[in-house]
Amino acid sequence: MTETPPDQAHWARVAAQWTAWARKPGHDAFWAYRDTLLAFIGRGDKLALEVGCGEGRVSRALKELGHHVTATDPVAELVDAAAAAGSADRYAVAPAEALPFEDGSFDLVVAYNVLMDVANVPAACAEMARVLAPGGEVMISLVHPFRDRGRFSGAGPDAPFVLEGSYFGRERFEGAEERDGLTMDFAGWSQPLESYAEALEGAGLAITRLREPLPTAVPGDETMARWMRLPLFLWLKARRLV
Ligand SMILES: C[S@@+](CC[C@H](N)C(=O)[O-])C[C@H]1O[C@@H](n2cnc3c(N)ncnc32)[C@H](O)[C@@H]1O
Repeated sequence: MTETPPDQAHWARVAAQWTAWARKPGHDAFWAYRDTLLAFIGRGDKLALEVGCGEGRVSRALKELGHHVTATDPVAELVDAAAAAGSADRYAVAPAEALPFEDGSFDLVVAYNVLMDVANVPAACAEMARVLAPGGEVMISLVHPFRDRGRFSGAGPDAPFVLEGSYFGRERFEGAEERDGLTMDFAGWSQPLESYAEALEGAGLAITRLREPLPTAVPGDETMARWMRLPLFLWLKARRLV
């Protein structure tokens, strides 16, 4: 019997936690970026694949934009949660590194805050490129590689951001976040932007657009103010070259 890779085992353990965290209205940073994300992805009626769909909030956004969505995640409990919420048109339980689809099956592949969780990023990028039709596009969101390596030294919106150690190299991270009665145990790998760019390059994907989005300000809510000074996320689009 093959052992479940540690990234997938972690997410199987925290599936219920993640579903509660991701679905609580306005709770996760996702909601402060959602409108900008929809505009960045764009409306259309593309055959779209989401890898690492979790409980399905991004797949639901893709459907809202008019796309025909297949949602995949290696964790069956999360795919079930996505299906129960009607997040997509089709579902599959599969890791990004081994997608159960024919070559060239999709016009758009979305990996939203997933690649930091994947052990083998080059293999995942190669698979995403393989299932993409020629001229098709991937949209990737990362927790900004710079943000991953540092921390704010205080609670206020102007607290200095401190980088300890090195920006370079690949490191495992693990840590719990607690807010408003919910806890979420995050774990994954942080690595510099260049590692992601090399993985895309190796997969024959050329970056066409790159954004460091700002959160939508909510009057009276200071929670996201610090992310007006530093990028929390990095978004990019890349195209299959041939
Ligand atoms: C932070 S959650 C993001 C979920 C979703 N994209 C969203 O933003 O709501 C990370 C997701 O990556 C999935 N994941 C972990 N390892 C993976 C792998 N090897 N391939 C694809 N997805 C993976 C987890 O199961 C989890 O659903």
